[in-house]
Amino acid sequence: MTANVSLIRFQVHGDDRGSLIALENGHNLPFDVKRVYYIFGTKAGVPRGFHAHRQLKQVLVAMSGSVTVKTEHGGKTETHLLNRPDEGLLIEGLVWREMHDFSPDCVLTVLADEYYNESDYIRDYTVFKQEDAT
Ligand code: TYD
Repeated sequence: MTANVSLIRFQVHGDDRGSLIALENGHNLPFDVKRVYYIFGTKAGVPRGFHAHRQLKQVLVAMSGSVTVKTEHGGKTETHLLNRPDEGLLIEGLVWREMHDFSPDCVLTVLADEYYNESDYIRDYTVFKQEDAT
C-alpha cells in the first residue's frame, strides 16, 4: 500500500442554532469506518503515538481544542496543526505519526477502516525506517 497524508475539509451545515458536520462512508470519508476512538484528558506536555501502521487508514479530527500531528513517510516529515472540527487528517499506509502539544480541552477523534490489531503496528522507529526505505 502506498503511504499518504492529506487534509480533508468537511462541509459544515450551519444556521443560527450552531453547526453540524455529517461523516458518511464513501462520501466525505474515503473508506468504510469499522472503528472510532477518541483521545481526551491528555496530560500537559505528554506526547502520544510514536508508531506506524502497515495497512490501516485513519482520519484524525480535533473535535475540540488542538493538537500537533507529526508525520513521516518516504523520508518526508510534515507537521499538521489540527484545531478545527471541520478538518480531518487522512493517514493511509506506512506513516510514522506522533501527536504533540495537546491542548487541555482537546478531544481527538480517530476514524479507522479496521478493528484494533496490534500486529498492524510498528512501534520501533528503526524498523519503520527499514520498511519505509524498501
Ligand atoms: P496506544 O496505542 O498506546 O495509544 P496512542 O496511539 O495514543 O499512543 O493505545 C493505548 C491503549 O489503548 C493500549 O492499551 C491499546 C488500547 N487500544 C485499544 O484497545 N483499542 C484501540 O482501538 C486503540 C487505538 C488502543
